[in-house]
Amino acid sequence: MIGSVSAASLALGGVAGCRRDAGPPEPPDGHRVYEMRCAQCHAAKVTTIGPSLHEIAGIYGTDVDGVVKWAKAPGRKRKDMTQMPSFGHLMEEDLRAVATWMLEEGKK
Ligand code: HEC
Repeated sequence: MIGSVSAASLALGGVAGCRRDAGPPEPPDGHRVYEMRCAQCHAAKVTTIGPSLHEIAGIYGTDVDGVVKWAKAPGRKRKDMTQMPSFGHLMEEDLRAVATWMLEEGKK
């Protein structure tokens, strides 16, 4: 039992971790960055731990820089929510890619 649980989490870790290793550098994939870094707290249409992408797109429109700025140094806006952790350690291009993707997705 214990063996199969850890095998499963190893397999998951492998999928998330190894795609970047080989081949020429690819342009950052905003959807992938979202799945890895943001999806646990931000869903497309419903409020979960953080606001939905729909709400975020409603606030930021096409302001990719605004989302990047927030992700580097999140403020404290919503009294009923926890503080969002900072993503200042991510690469600028990953932040821009995920911000662009979020705003596109949130418009749908
Ligand atoms: C651990 C949970 C968590 C993760 C992971 C997370 N967020 Fe958040 N996010 C929050 C919470 C909570 C808020 C609301 C904070 C508030 O209003 O005080 C928020 C709010 C936001 C907002 C709205 C800011 C505003 O002006 O209202 C944006 C944009 C955002 N997050 C982007 C991101 C991006 C991009 C990522 C991934 C790189 C991400 N978040 C990952 C929890 C998270």
